[in-house]
Amino acid sequence: MPSNQNLDEVLKSRRSIRRFTTETPAKEDIEAIIQAGILAPFAALANTGKDGRKIIVISRNNQLLTQLANIVRKKAAVLAEQFKSQMDTNPFLQTQGQGFLKRLEMTAQQGPLGIGSAPYYIVVAEKKGIPDVQHQSISYCMENMWLKAASLGLGFHLVSITSQMEQDSEFCGLLNLPKGEYGLDGCAIGYPAQNPPQPTIASVEEVTTWFI
Ligand SMILES: Cc1cc2nc3c(=O)[nH]c(=O)nc-3n(C[C@H](O)[C@H](O)[C@H](O)COP(=O)(O)O)c2cc1C
Repeated sequence: MPSNQNLDEVLKSRRSIRRFTTETPAKEDIEAIIQAGILAPFAALANTGKDGRKIIVISRNNQLLTQLANIVRKKAAVLAEQFKSQMDTNPFLQTQGQGFLKRLEMTAQQGPLGIGSAPYYIVVAEKKGIPDVQHQSISYCMENMWLKAASLGLGFHLVSITSQMEQDSEFCGLLNLPKGEYGLDGCAIGYPAQNPPQPTIASVEEVTTWFI
């Protein structure tokens, strides 16, 4: 079936693109990406009603982006300090947390990758409910958006520090979101300025245990 082949091609073409050209994607393309996100599943028990999922698009041309980037940068510095003191008393974090600490410190020094380095920064917000599954819902939404971006020839990467901002009144206030009521995640979208090498992907055989 041709649609099956098309889907396989899109799945294989999806990559994290972290460098973008200066060209701004058309608004219609961003709308099509958001439409794909809306089609993603959501937790019906936790989340009913029209306010359940919100998508906020901030263009590089809007000064709001600089404000958001500065707030995230400050937050990354605070999180890095907090994480460092947790590492002092937690051997697991000491061995496993170095990469995360480095990422936080880099974000504090250089600003968050994807907020200002791409034509669009998009925040997906999902209302918190019971059960507490808003982040799973956001991930499905993000994956749909990512695949749609890939199928349109657009580059995409996750900006997952966005999820650390859901309790930040300044960040939420600027996005007109009530602080603490929504789970958040973010992504950056633009035209790709890189073609990352193919990663080594495990085979079906390597990852699967069958009981049949
Ligand atoms: C939960 C999660 C969080 C991620 N956060 C980020 C992020 O903040 N920034 C980023 O550039 N990539 C992020 N990534 C992307 C991964 O690094 C990437 O998907 C992985 O290295 C595989 O590369 P690919 O996306 O090109 O296939 C995240 C991926 C996942 C699943």
